[in-house]
Amino acid sequence: MSLERKDEHDHGEWMKEKDLTPVETTFLTALIWMDQRFRIVDYLEILETLYYRVNMQMPKSHTEQYNLDNKFWYWYPLYALGSFSTIAYGVAALSGALLGFYYAPGTVSASGDASLAYNQLSFIMTELNFGFMLRSIHRWAAQVMVAAVFLHMIRVYFTGAYKEPRELNWLLGIILISLTMVFGYSGYLLTWDQLAFWASQIGVEMSLSIPLIGEWVAQLVFGGFSPGAATLQRMYIMHVFLLPFVVTTLVAVHIAIVWIQGIAEPH
Ligand code: HEM
Repeated sequence: MSLERKDEHDHGEWMKEKDLTPVETTFLTALIWMDQRFRIVDYLEILETLYYRVNMQMPKSHTEQYNLDNKFWYWYPLYALGSFSTIAYGVAALSGALLGFYYAPGTVSASGDASLAYNQLSFIMTELNFGFMLRSIHRWAAQVMVAAVFLHMIRVYFTGAYKEPRELNWLLGIILISLTMVFGYSGYLLTWDQLAFWASQIGVEMSLSIPLIGEWVAQLVFGGFSPGAATLQRMYIMHVFLLPFVVTTLVAVHIAIVWIQGIAEPH
């Protein structure tokens, strides 16, 4: 199929005839320029068709099926918990990206009094303008996310929304709640104070207690058999690089599946 459009050269004339405003002309010229290169109009049409097809497949909602237009089911507010988790995740991601400008994952500092990581956090809390606020927003968002995800899972369980055909989204949810906890744990270690140090010691020992592969897991996740610079480095990369990509992708897939299957309404 040729990429060139038959009507490629008629646009200028057509726009002149239409007596468009400068804003409209600029918008259309830009759109046509992009379309001639990337065929965006075709792809938008494909997306539109897909959208309507998917919506046609959606099951009727409970309110539609039983004609309950004006009824309010008192469990409905709990259906917001998934969106609440998503918003908390967004806030944590945004505030975390900003904290990243000031944080450094070092276990030693030039003065030798505390770790570089801890000193950077002291700087954020005491000297950086609104730094204490930024860090508090990040910590609160993280804790709210863990609570919201947990309550969301309880809601899904007690409304039976995990049943056929939503089994896979439930399993994806199990992965998401696990990764949310890994997010929390890796972030907790980033302060590299006494709490973080001993929490990582507990993590190392828990890994070592796994039969057969324990030592391998401790090496892989904590960079050794006792907490140190390698531990902090690994937690840092997990927290700011690996997990954000993986969790963002999985949340998008999770929500896409809800969109495709429709929400499970109570029966
Ligand atoms: C990062 C964590 C999560 C996010 C951001 C998230 C987000 C969402 C959102 C926005 C919805 C739409 C309906 C609603 O809000 O209740 C939803 C539905 C659903 N979620 Fe999650 N979720 C997460 C974790 C989980 C977990 C831990 C489970 C269970 C193990 C789970 C299982 C489900 C199921 C089965 C549905 C479909 C429910 C229905 O159709 O009524 N999700 N999720």
